[in-house]
Amino acid sequence: MTELKNDRFLRALMRQPVDRTPVWMMRQAGRYLPEYRATRAKAGDFLSLCKNTELACEVTLQPLERFPLDAAILFSDILTIPDALGLGLYFETGEGPKFKHTIRSAADVDALPAMNPEVDLDYVMNAVSTIRSALGGRVPLIGFSGSPWTLATYMIEGGSSKDFREAKKLMYGQPEVMHRLLDHLANAVIDYLNGQIKAGAQAVQIFDTWGGVLSSWAYEEFSLRYMKKIVDGLIRESEGRRVPVILFTKNGGQWLETIADSGCDAVGLDWTTDIGNARARIGDRVALQGNMDPAMLYAPKERIRQEVADILRRYGSGPGHIFNLGHGITPDVDPEHAGAFIEAVVELSPEYHR
Ligand code: CP3
Repeated sequence: MTELKNDRFLRALMRQPVDRTPVWMMRQAGRYLPEYRATRAKAGDFLSLCKNTELACEVTLQPLERFPLDAAILFSDILTIPDALGLGLYFETGEGPKFKHTIRSAADVDALPAMNPEVDLDYVMNAVSTIRSALGGRVPLIGFSGSPWTLATYMIEGGSSKDFREAKKLMYGQPEVMHRLLDHLANAVIDYLNGQIKAGAQAVQIFDTWGGVLSSWAYEEFSLRYMKKIVDGLIRESEGRRVPVILFTKNGGQWLETIADSGCDAVGLDWTTDIGNARARIGDRVALQGNMDPAMLYAPKERIRQEVADILRRYGSGPGHIFNLGHGITPDVDPEHAGAFIEAVVELSPEYHR
């Protein structure tokens, strides 16, 4: 394997000294980039793009050609696992993801096939190894998965949801069935992420996009518990380096202490938590990733720069911060504003690392 030329992202995840704060953006390869839209048109649709190794590699690298980012993230989706479990994922234009089949009963859960992600999702593993060699050591490659709870919400609801009524119906009404589903998903996620690590992913992030819609006890019982199980089952060292794990629970700000105790290396923060406060609470245990409101990218460039300066100041001096947005970049953002965000991190952060 070629040597890694820029390891500040991996170093910051280990809370080791760096020359400046590393930066990447959730959904950095996506519709806000005209070159992404052109490649997606070549593939036909989003899922075909995910399954086309060469084109998935091409879009992964697109944001790195434009911006001095410190990490690449595998181009794929969290819903590949339920798709491989036979639920039939599709996207209708202008709407979110949808499934042909839903999981609503004990019988549905028991009928789910056992899966082997390295075989059933071999296109993801191929994308990881292809991207890794195309990167040639420029920056590290992040692999990812959805959390069991977040995946379960899509599988039960059949798509996106506002109130998660079906998922919560199952969770409160038949908790043992919900636990069987979550356990099945956790095992699949462990094999899926370990497959990505074996194929060359150098860090992994678990997206718990919907953990924040749970009450505190339910978050611990139905979301965090299964993310812990995953963290315990992951390969933590590869190619002589630690493979750091980032847990991102959107709206999880009130549970930072318990998330930090999960065994992860870093906690992802959305913008509703003050990062200085988060550091005071857990920053001696784990690294922190975040957390500018992605909607700030609609503001004038000077305002974006001021917000970056503010977040850097609130985090303060020393290692352990990975700059990111508090959630994914939205499709209607001007790429130049994304550029201004990244440039501000590059220019303003060195003074915090002297
Ligand atoms: O960060 C990256 O650049 C890597 C790629 C990535 C995608 N999805 C690509 C994508 C990642 C990490 C994801 C994760 C994902 N997918 C999550 C968790 C993170 C989060 O945003 O909360 C969730 C909940 C999904 C499910 C999903 N897939 C949704 C809600 C959507 C958007 C539907 C829409 O039309 O807005 C997708 C589709 C999707 N995944 C797109 C991309 C670039 C857009 C598809 C397109 O090109 O039309």
